[in-house]
Amino acid sequence: MKFEKIQAPKGVREYLPPESEAFEWVRSQLIAPAKAAGYALMELPVFEDTALFSRGVGESTDVVSKEMYTFEDRGGRSITLRPEGTAGVMRAVIENNLDRGQLPVKVWYSGQFFRAERPQAGRYRQFYQVGIEAIGSDDPAIDAEVISVADQAFKNLGLKGYRLEITSLGDAQSRADHRVDLLKYIDALNLDEATKARAEINPLRLFDDKRPEMQEAMSKAPLLMDYLSPESKSHFQTVLKYLDSLNIDYAINPRMVRGLDYYTGTTFEFIHMGLGAQSAIGGGGRYDKLMSELGGQDLSGIGWGLGVDRTILAAEEEGVIPADLGNADLFIIPLGTQTVAIKIATDLRSAGKVVEIAFGERGLKGAMKAADKSGAKYVLVLGETEVNSGSVELKTMSSGEVKSVRISDL
Ligand code: HAM
Repeated sequence: MKFEKIQAPKGVREYLPPESEAFEWVRSQLIAPAKAAGYALMELPVFEDTALFSRGVGESTDVVSKEMYTFEDRGGRSITLRPEGTAGVMRAVIENNLDRGQLPVKVWYSGQFFRAERPQAGRYRQFYQVGIEAIGSDDPAIDAEVISVADQAFKNLGLKGYRLEITSLGDAQSRADHRVDLLKYIDALNLDEATKARAEINPLRLFDDKRPEMQEAMSKAPLLMDYLSPESKSHFQTVLKYLDSLNIDYAINPRMVRGLDYYTGTTFEFIHMGLGAQSAIGGGGRYDKLMSELGGQDLSGIGWGLGVDRTILAAEEEGVIPADLGNADLFIIPLGTQTVAIKIATDLRSAGKVVEIAFGERGLKGAMKAADKSGAKYVLVLGETEVNSGSVELKTMSSGEVKSVRISDL
């Protein structure tokens, strides 16, 4: 009997060798500046109570209304695979009283997220993010820190072809004032029922409607940026001033609409110019009401999520991924000397070197081929003679140069 092969589910992104080296490299580069700024790791569940996302992310969003992987578990509870990370962080902070200690609570996380979107280049149903959140400070300096940590992450990777877009969604007063005029404007448009219903929950969503007639209809709609309260305006101006002093370029985009409903105040996206339709390599902002909406105290927060998959595409596009990722330092070919080879490899590995050994009886030629493929810098053929003399011939693969080295000096 012959069994059929099983394929990966549609739209999932997986990273296999050798590409997984680029994945690991990009992810660690995105995390490094967060660690350098004192953010601490939070390792969270990939599934949560569905209510966390419907309440936290918002019913008007595509993420909640169309894209959640929701199922009933064996105990009849409604469970959802996390579509994003902020709500889970907030749930964990509230549940564990982290907000009763030193503020702001500064954390980072990385992992898989799930959205049942139509798969295309740069858009997957299981994708990877690195994220940070800073909870419990209204200081505009934390907005600048959060943005600069992301900017530093992209710069560390060597990326140049991206821009930062930024706006402010204001405070409750700003949004209430704007909402009155925006709803008046939208009321005068001839809209279908579904669109009207979305507008009722969050009228800002209509700015994000990709239909050409809607783009046209919204082109003269009142912009929230013109309704900012004096406090919101001053906060935003201060953030921009800090970004200027950090030499971080930005473009103000008053029509930016984020895909999640919790945003307030400073909101931003990083757009890579070399990617197609899915050009946002990261995004984030303030969410000053989220904690109270999830049953916690009334503390503000700000953070971002960077898309690892899209950042890899951007890094490939800019050709900044190092060619030698994952290459071994040394490849040992034992010729009847396995015991010594393993000992040498173990010693060098514990000294931090990447060492591979040829396995099986495939002869010197086959083993040399494997050594070449491994990308190792050096190759060492270890025969009985070498072991007995205590001296080996070390070959530099790039130049072919061979030099005699004492085993004890390796
Ligand atoms: P987001 O903008 O929905 O924000 O996602 C952040 C990043 O994740 C996007 O810029 C993109 O690079 C990547 N991403 C999102 N969906 C997909 C997908 N289907 N396939 C591949 N990559 C994707 C958030 O998730 C917020 N939690 C960020 C945040 C943290 N805001 C405040 N704190």
